[in-house]
Amino acid sequence: MLSIALPKGRLGNSVYNLFEAIGYDCPEINDETRKLVFINEEKDIKYLLVKPSDVAVYVEKGAADIGVIGSDILFEGNSDVYELLDLNLGKCKMCIAAENGWNDDLSLPLRVASKYPNTASRYFDSISRRIEIIKLNGSIELAPLLGMSDVIVDIVETGGTLKGNDLSVVKEIENISARLIANKSSYQFKKEKIDKIVENMNNIVEE
Ligand code: PRP
Repeated sequence: MLSIALPKGRLGNSVYNLFEAIGYDCPEINDETRKLVFINEEKDIKYLLVKPSDVAVYVEKGAADIGVIGSDILFEGNSDVYELLDLNLGKCKMCIAAENGWNDDLSLPLRVASKYPNTASRYFDSISRRIEIIKLNGSIELAPLLGMSDVIVDIVETGGTLKGNDLSVVKEIENISARLIANKSSYQFKKEKIDKIVENMNNIVEE
């Protein structure tokens, strides 16, 4: 049986629709239940609903053979998994944002609040800007409003959260989208089945 880790929530729904479209349906996944495991015996597949930030853990440990994860989370960690396909879903941008009208003072280390400390450090290292990271787990936009940080590094989708808090994008760092990943040994032992999924999905993902 092939086990597939789906991220719970918005992205998970559209990702499931992709699997359904290539014949791996499991309709009860759409029921309003608290269940986390869904099996389709006939198709020999098992879906696991996991917290988006944990998908790579399940896949790396082999608890799931494959999974779908946002590239923001994938690139923030250093999981030992194969990245198989860009699904072109859940698209957004990793951005630096600050209060409207903010000006950088290059004589001081930049105080950066983020859920993505590695991504932020990598970027500022690449431009040789000294920073101090303030790791937060959510509501990042509050940090500059309270004077706790100069900027934030966060994902921006509609831009609504920034706008609603009088912040604006200073720089776009990278494009984000959902990626299909695989456990390395699963990919060896279940190569045929996984390759078929990659091929079928590749045919239907939007450019
Ligand atoms: C994410 C992100 C931004 C917001 C961006 O937060 O951290 O705050 O979405 O989306 P937008 O550009 O469409 O407004 P999330 O909703 O995951 O909540 P969080 O603050 O708890 O991380």
